[in-house]
Amino acid sequence: MKKIAIFASGSGSNAENIARYFKGSELLNIECIYSNKANAFVLERAKKFNIPTFVFNRTDFYQSEIVLDDLKNRNVEIIVLAGFLWLVPDYLTNNFTIINIHPALLPKYGGKGMYGDRVHQAVVENGEKKSGITIHYVNEKYDDGQMIFQAECEVLPGDTPADVAQKVHELEYRHFPEVIEKLVLSC
Ligand code: GAR
Repeated sequence: MKKIAIFASGSGSNAENIARYFKGSELLNIECIYSNKANAFVLERAKKFNIPTFVFNRTDFYQSEIVLDDLKNRNVEIIVLAGFLWLVPDYLTNNFTIINIHPALLPKYGGKGMYGDRVHQAVVENGEKKSGITIHYVNEKYDDGQMIFQAECEVLPGDTPADVAQKVHELEYRHFPEVIEKLVLSC
């Protein structure tokens, strides 16, 4: 049984989708959901699945190792970023396999400040004909690690950023749990 942790900063619909997919799984267990926001809705979602939560602030994350200690105490091996918006420090990239989902076809529309609806806004403003998701390993830079998986959706004339967000979320819900499952099976 692999022990995984999810990091999320916001709503947590992906975290919930992953929790639902792996509920009762003998392959992996979500040991804890970590968030940098005390009022993030993901923390409510965690309660529904009886998943422990851990909230940290900037000082905790960048100037202490309390997050590292907690992950080690829980024997976590894999970290999944599901809408986590802070840069991941070296002490995590050095100790864990970490993957991230990004709501665009990297290397386009990645990097600092490119997250959530800002990505879909930029995709529409630039008249892109397609967008999608990228799941990739995490290194010390934003959206830069080796790619694991991509899936595309069409962007039609007249699509709003909200329309694109919906198509991208559908791809996320369909593919992210399966990619995690394959990764765990290959470890
Ligand atoms: C997701 O679309 C995810 O791809 C994106 O944030 C959203 C979180 O939604 N991540 C990034 O933009 C990372 N750069 P959720 O909280 O409902 O899962």
